[in-house]
Amino acid sequence: MYRVAILVASDSAYEGTREDKSGPILKEFMESKGFEVVSLQVCSDTKEMLEDVMKDICDNNKADLLLTSGGTGLSMRDCMPEATTTIAHRMVPGVGEAMRQYSMQFTKRAMFSRAIAATRYETLIINLPGSPKAVIECMEAIIDELAHGLGIMLGTERNCARK
Ligand code: MTE
Repeated sequence: MYRVAILVASDSAYEGTREDKSGPILKEFMESKGFEVVSLQVCSDTKEMLEDVMKDICDNNKADLLLTSGGTGLSMRDCMPEATTTIAHRMVPGVGEAMRQYSMQFTKRAMFSRAIAATRYETLIINLPGSPKAVIECMEAIIDELAHGLGIMLGTERNCARK
């Protein structure tokens, strides 16, 4: 069972002026798919804080998969892709491409999410947009192949032949 950490970037949820709904929905979705959710943290849209939390999860091997929600758009406070890029060891561009391509059937505004994916040590980091609806739509785009990617990263899976 793969371990998942969830990190929500939201100034208003962090300050307590708005309830975070994306984190709990993402947790429920991942558990329904057989993943173990080991943590759910809410941070403000502060680049250094996001980097510190992501580094702690990756460097201490607290999760195989780190899903972030929010901070991927064009608002001047949005900095999740920048924080992820700063701490990334290897970029995984296809994940963001797949999410955006799949999401366009629901809303053309999907083009405004700058979400990226990357690895740091043996953790795969995937940015998701912030709305609960977007979180589920983006996860649906990638969930079926996620275990394969994680298995290749961790060296537990070597066979890439399609079934
Ligand atoms: N992707 C999907 N699948 N569904 C959505 O509703 N919303 C878009 C986009 N991606 C959306 C989506 C919108 S309106 C924005 S502004 C961006 O994600 C960025 O969202 P964020 O700043 O909350 O990360």
